Amino acid sequence: MAIVDQKWSALPVPFAMERADRVPKERYFDPDFYRLEVDQLWSRTWQMACRLEEIPRPNDFTEYQILDQSVIVVRTEDGGARALQNVCRHRGVRVVEGGGNCDSGFTCPFHGWCYAADGANTFVSKARTFAEHNLHPDDLDLTPVRCEVWGGCAWINLDDGAPPLRQCIEPFATTFDAWKMESFRAEWWYSFRLPVNWKLAEEAFLEQYHVIETHPQLVIPGRFPPRDPTTFDPRTFVESELHYLRTMSDGMAGMVHADDVRVAEALRHMQLPSDPTSALATWQHTLNDAVVRWHRDRGSVIPDLNELEVAGLNEPMGYCFPHFYVLPMYSSASSYRFRPLGPEETLMDIWSLTRFPVGSTAERPTPPEPWDYDDPRVPPIPIQDFSNLPRQQRGLHARSFEYMRLSEGIEGGVANFERTVDGFLAGLPYEKLLPALRQINLNPLERPVVDLDL
Ligand code: FES
Ligand SMILES: [Fe+2]
Repeated sequence: MAIVDQKWSALPVPFAMERADRVPKERYFDPDFYRLEVDQLWSRTWQMACRLEEIPRPNDFTEYQILDQSVIVVRTEDGGARALQNVCRHRGVRVVEGGGNCDSGFTCPFHGWCYAADGANTFVSKARTFAEHNLHPDDLDLTPVRCEVWGGCAWINLDDGAPPLRQCIEPFATTFDAWKMESFRAEWWYSFRLPVNWKLAEEAFLEQYHVIETHPQLVIPGRFPPRDPTTFDPRTFVESELHYLRTMSDGMAGMVHADDVRVAEALRHMQLPSDPTSALATWQHTLNDAVVRWHRDRGSVIPDLNELEVAGLNEPMGYCFPHFYVLPMYSSASSYRFRPLGPEETLMDIWSLTRFPVGSTAERPTPPEPWDYDDPRVPPIPIQDFSNLPRQQRGLHARSFEYMRLSEGIEGGVANFERTVDGFLAGLPYEKLLPALRQINLNPLERPVVDLDL
């Protein structure tokens, strides 16, 4: 396949992706490049602001911070959410810190101006001492921010001119509608401070080229059909598969849920055809059905995993530009979110999502205190990913190193993502950006470089 070269017609982008398979190193630390991302990208994209479990009841609210912006996300009576800029219209104090409930509205801690849950100003102390032009009623409410609910999450966009959420996150949205994303609940939530650029952190999860070297425990002999089918042993295959499921379950602390591992173990003695291809298919089909039955029997909502398989949607990774991932396996999923804290620092959230019986009340999760990337509590698989990151960030500063060289065949996830970043930095209009987003908002693993037509 030919390498796709980028043609720019809009604002010049420093350190641009002039070749799709080469990433200039400055993109990961140059302060001007970072500034451009703040101004042109994070101010214009839909961002996953919170999971709805964080704000379960009407008027529950939480604070979403991105760079120097703070947004209050409030649950509404109709099950949706609204967002408001977290800044008092008097002298600019952030009205809230963290989360809570605003049944009685918000009161600014400085001079006591008050706002209703919908942001309307309800009280100005000593109002008579202000000139009329400073108390114009249209001008005193908390400023609304675009907000939409999808997939059990509230999403915000700081750009009033952006297209609706769904247009910007397809085909991710359609895929995860089929997964019944809205019926996942968080079982736990951790966050980590990573001493690297946010794109570098994300890119550790945009390809699976690294798995053999970084996660050798996931390379389990016997899981795939042998070259010589006459040497295939269904028992060995089942044991390898169970070993893989247990390793994923422990390593990702529940990406394969322990409940599903138990369901799989109960199938250990099932009869399988001796032909490897049919044995694999039979095992997968039976396990999918058994998992679905187990969760439906408990009263949980779960899609038919074999229907997802037929529709080609049973893939273990979904990506949503610029910072959200869902990695589903069987009943459950891991979910990631990345936010820059500076040119060389990133905050990463990980949620473990699973199905709960309808009507059961999950606890309202509190935002976690971020751990260091090497904290011994980090689950075994992410800690392997994290261990490379600071070495890579430091390595990029080497004088002799100019650019990353990507495999155009299997590291396209990284290349396509970086070029979409450039589309935003160049200030391209949404009509140009939307087709590129449709190309990258899907499983990035093992993808080639594609023509984004930017
Ligand atoms: S800054 Fe909020 S009341 Fe003065
Ligand atoms: Fe990894």
